[in-house]
Amino acid sequence: MKIFLLIFTVISLLVMAAESGDKLKCDVVGIPESIERGRSWLLSQRDNRWGWGLETHRAIMTLYLTNHSQFSTGDLKDQLMAKELEVQLAVALWGPNGRTLSAGQLALYIHGLLGSCHNPRNYFDTDLTEMLLEYNFTASNYSLALESLSLCNAGRKLSDERIGQLLDILPPKAGAHFWTDTQAMAVLALSCVVRKQHYTNISKNIAETLKSFKKIQKPDGSFGNVYTSGLVVQAFLAGEDNGHGWDFKQALRYLLSQQQDDGSFGDLLATYFVLPGLACQSYVELGFVKCVEPPTSNTGNGAAIQEIREINNEGSAEYIKICYSLWFENENEVNQTITVDDIQPNTTFFQIMNKAAEQHSNYKFKWESTALGPYVVEIAGIANDIVNKKFWMLYVMDPATNKPVLSSVGKKL
Ligand SMILES: *[C@@H]1O[C@H](CO)[C@@H](O)[C@H](O)[C@H]1NC(C)=O
Ligand SMILES: *[C@@H]1O[C@H](CO)[C@@H](O)[C@H](O)[C@H]1NC(C)=O
Ligand SMILES: *[C@@H]1O[C@H](CO)[C@@H](O)[C@H](O)[C@H]1NC(C)=O
Ligand SMILES: *[C@@H]1O[C@H](CO)[C@@H](O)[C@H](O)[C@H]1NC(C)=O
Ligand SMILES: *[C@@H]1O[C@H](CO)[C@@H](O)[C@H](O)[C@H]1NC(C)=O
Ligand SMILES: *[C@@H]1O[C@H](CO)[C@@H](O)[C@H](O)[C@H]1NC(C)=O
Repeated sequence: MKIFLLIFTVISLLVMAAESGDKLKCDVVGIPESIERGRSWLLSQRDNRWGWGLETHRAIMTLYLTNHSQFSTGDLKDQLMAKELEVQLAVALWGPNGRTLSAGQLALYIHGLLGSCHNPRNYFDTDLTEMLLEYNFTASNYSLALESLSLCNAGRKLSDERIGQLLDILPPKAGAHFWTDTQAMAVLALSCVVRKQHYTNISKNIAETLKSFKKIQKPDGSFGNVYTSGLVVQAFLAGEDNGHGWDFKQALRYLLSQQQDDGSFGDLLATYFVLPGLACQSYVELGFVKCVEPPTSNTGNGAAIQEIREINNEGSAEYIKICYSLWFENENEVNQTITVDDIQPNTTFFQIMNKAAEQHSNYKFKWESTALGPYVVEIAGIANDIVNKKFWMLYVMDPATNKPVLSSVGKKL
């Protein structure tokens, strides 16, 4: 009896160790090289606006998930990509054709903003999660799961009603099209809920779905086509599966085998589904982005301002003195600095540019009106040069860190 008890204890300890200790490891030969090739392909697909057309959000997410430093070092190229995402979204929300965005698209933009170190809950003073909640969720269960994931990643608590709807789409459903994709997306959304809302009570539902995925793994390691397989691998990672009862490494080998000579996995969509999984990441990590430093680089033409707050003794109003500098990429060009006085708080930089232009002809500029407000196209006779990817950029000195932060001229100081 004593011996039996002893053995029993040892065995149950072993089982516990196996269940809690095994984490999926993406250590199959060739993965780092494959990620590098995939990223190079992705970067090679950028257009001359530094974006990927309507796929910009997916491309940005993929770049972030395969290198967490991508958008946090202040690199100018990264900022141009992020800027393109912001501009596209502004046009889709407030452009001349009104709102041209589905709820699923908005969810992708929220993810893109998170991946590029932007706050989707304060996008030009708009809380995009609030906007997303106003949509009616009828498109599809896949879309419901994707939207829920982006809400959770952006820090919204999901209601018990919504969590209930997600739990309802976890079970297998014979004959439904793309149902595995839908289940996998629901697993991602609920995994976010487990981590952010500490709903550990739904972990067993997630595990149940993962078990059903294990049963449909094919001998080549896949779970259907390359898109589905990429998403299911992400679901296993997000759901913190222990790797028992299926062949994780074979699944990774299958994904590797789908890479084309050009580095893509067929197209941008497939690359977006596959690369994060190869990097041992899932879209749930977009809810845990840590942004490090404000941008510090200043290649290209730029304008910078520094504000000096002064109390005007005459009245109680506070006025600001602004140092407005222009610098040019070309070393032979002289830097220009001008001081503009008596600026009221809440003035936009655009208004200051007008005042400076009145004071000195070097500050004359040209601009165009856009949905985002004024867009500067030329200062001091030097125009934006789209072909050579040179643009005027505005940096505002942050007094706390004494580092320049990228801004836009329509924003209030
Ligand atoms: C990730 O990005 C950073 C910044 O761009 C770069 O310095 C680093 O080498 C990259 N890491 C990998 C593994 O590519
Ligand atoms: C959402 O549904 C409600 C009632 O079903 C309807 O009144 C409302 O107009 C819908 N909202 C949108 C944005 O479609
Ligand atoms: C979503 O899935 C649930 C549960 O399977 C089903 O009842 C519902 O009709 C589905 N909704 C849509 C829009 O397909
Ligand atoms: C899980 O637990 C939370 C509280 O921690 C509760 O509000 C929720 O209803 C539970 N959900 C289920 C599906 O049991
Ligand atoms: C222009 O100003 C920038 C930023 O202060 C500085 O790094 C650069 O050396 C200056 N260039 C010239 C030509 O003075
Ligand atoms: C500037 O804007 C802030 C917030 O929008 C407001 O609280 C403040 O009163 C404004 N200041 C002036 C002088 O208008």
